[in-house]
Amino acid sequence: MAPEIADTMPRTGGFPAVRHRRLRTTEGMRRLVRETAPRPSQFVLPMFAVAGEGVRQPVDALPGIARLSPDLLVEEARAARDAGVGGVLLFGVTDLKDADGSSAHAADGVVQEAVRALKTALPDLVVITDVCLCGYTDHGHCGLLGGGGEVDNDASLAVLAQTAVSHARAGADVVAPSDMMDGRVAAIRSALDEAGYEDVAIMSYSAKYASAFYGPFREAAGSAPGHGDRRGYQMDPPNAREAVREVREDEAEGADLVMVKPAATYLDVIRAVREATGLPVAAYHVSGEYAMVKAAAERGWLDERSAMLEVLTAVVRAGADIVITYAAVDAARWIHEGER
Ligand code: PBG
Repeated sequence: MAPEIADTMPRTGGFPAVRHRRLRTTEGMRRLVRETAPRPSQFVLPMFAVAGEGVRQPVDALPGIARLSPDLLVEEARAARDAGVGGVLLFGVTDLKDADGSSAHAADGVVQEAVRALKTALPDLVVITDVCLCGYTDHGHCGLLGGGGEVDNDASLAVLAQTAVSHARAGADVVAPSDMMDGRVAAIRSALDEAGYEDVAIMSYSAKYASAFYGPFREAAGSAPGHGDRRGYQMDPPNAREAVREVREDEAEGADLVMVKPAATYLDVIRAVREATGLPVAAYHVSGEYAMVKAAAERGWLDERSAMLEVLTAVVRAGADIVITYAAVDAARWIHEGER
């Protein structure tokens, strides 16, 4: 094209023809072009079950979260459901610990009792159970220990599978292994099928990192390792490609949903996993990530509502279909209020 003709054409690219601010002038315009909007039904609330009745033990490091006996757990789960939250993820907290974590699969264990209470009172609520041994072993590791004090992968599989079956028998809709043993998804899938629980789904903590952000959780669950750390089985934080390998393996072993954990500090991993699988992707906004926002807000350093919603929106924007978060109920209510 001759230069003199080009000069007479209207400019269609670049400032001042392009003004990005036009789409930001009013809340109506911003809402119209908004790309990501977390839905309350995507949120899953983690809950801590203890034995007894009328028991509520607030967790210092997780403001707003308490360990609850089944009766109170049902009440809080009902409030979560009424706020539109998509499901709950249950952890058991108990003093009944031994080397083999045998209370993890007791028919009358804390999680099993809590699941029964929830499914009786709220049959439509999606109940997911964490499958791990760390809260039930006296050494606090996620599997059984071998002779050298290290976690024995293969020996742990049967106990994890037995635990998952006990959760299914109590009525869990989804079991979520968080132990990071290799082969546990396959072991759990075949044990569930053999016991007649073909319809119970597996949400695998596929890419679970050895993170410093689990600190407040370990206070809540009393599950800190007595010796050493979890670096021999949880993933090394610098690795992202490895997360995709973990996800592919879990998918091949029969996982129905996969998870990345933590969430907010691993947005790139969520995106990589989203692109690598067609399965629903969950992301766990973990205790430390929640506690950071709460603590700063308590000091008046952050606005809790907008900071928390910004983090949760980022996790969804990165590609998560499900966000597991201690802020589930508040966030669900804030979203409803924003829509009004
Ligand atoms: C159990 C488990 C942990 C979390 C979920 N399941 C702790 C850990 O691996 O040490 C952490 C959740 C959180 O920090 O919110 N293995």
